[in-house]
Amino acid sequence: MSTHELTLTVNDAEERLTVEARTLLVHALRDELGYTGPKVGCERGKCGSCTVHLDGEPVKSCTTLAVQADGREVTTVEGLVGNGVETGGEGDGLHPVQTALHEAHGLQCGFCTPGMVMTIVSLLEDDAEQTEESVRRALKGNVCRCTGYQNVVDAVLAAAEGAGRADVAADGGSIGGCADSGPCGDGADDGGDA
Ligand code: FES
Ligand code: FES
Repeated sequence: MSTHELTLTVNDAEERLTVEARTLLVHALRDELGYTGPKVGCERGKCGSCTVHLDGEPVKSCTTLAVQADGREVTTVEGLVGNGVETGGEGDGLHPVQTALHEAHGLQCGFCTPGMVMTIVSLLEDDAEQTEESVRRALKGNVCRCTGYQNVVDAVLAAAEGAGRADVAADGGSIGGCADSGPCGDGADDGGDA
C-alpha cells in the first residue's frame, strides 16, 4: 500500500502526517492526530457522527479520504471552543450553537452531538433564517438512536434568533409533516443498519 505525506490545517494548527492511501479522514484525525471530537459511528456516511468542516463545508469524514484533505483546512468540534462569545458564566467560550444546545437541553450523547454541532454551525453560517422544517431537513443526516430531536431543533432556532436573523414559524408547531420524534421525513436515515 502506498503512503502519502500530508499537511493539513486542523483547527488553525498545521499538522503533518503520513497515511496510507486508504486512510479515512476520521481515522487520521482521531488515531494519528488525536482529534477525537469526530466520532466513528456507522462508517458508511449515514449517521453524521463524524461530521467535520473541510474548507468550511460540512463533510462526513468517514467517507472522505485523508489524502483529499491535503493542503486544506479542517475544523473539528474542538475547534469551536474559544470562538464563542464570552459570557462570564458556565459555558464561557463555547460557540453560540453549543451554548444554545446547552440551554435548550439539546446536548445529547457524545456520539451524535459533535456531528450535530458541526452541521448546525454550518447551517447557520450559510443562512441564519431557519424554520423548524428547514432545521429538521438539515439534520436528517445526523442520527440519534435514543432520545429525539425536539430540543436540538429548539436550540437551533434559539441560536438563529440569537443571531438576530431568524424567521421562525409564527405558530411554532410541527411543519410539513415533520414528526417531533425525528428529523424531517424524506430520506432520513434511522441508522438501524449501522
Ligand atoms: S461515522 Fe461517518 S456518517 Fe456515520
Ligand atoms: S445517539 Fe446521541 S443521544 Fe442518541
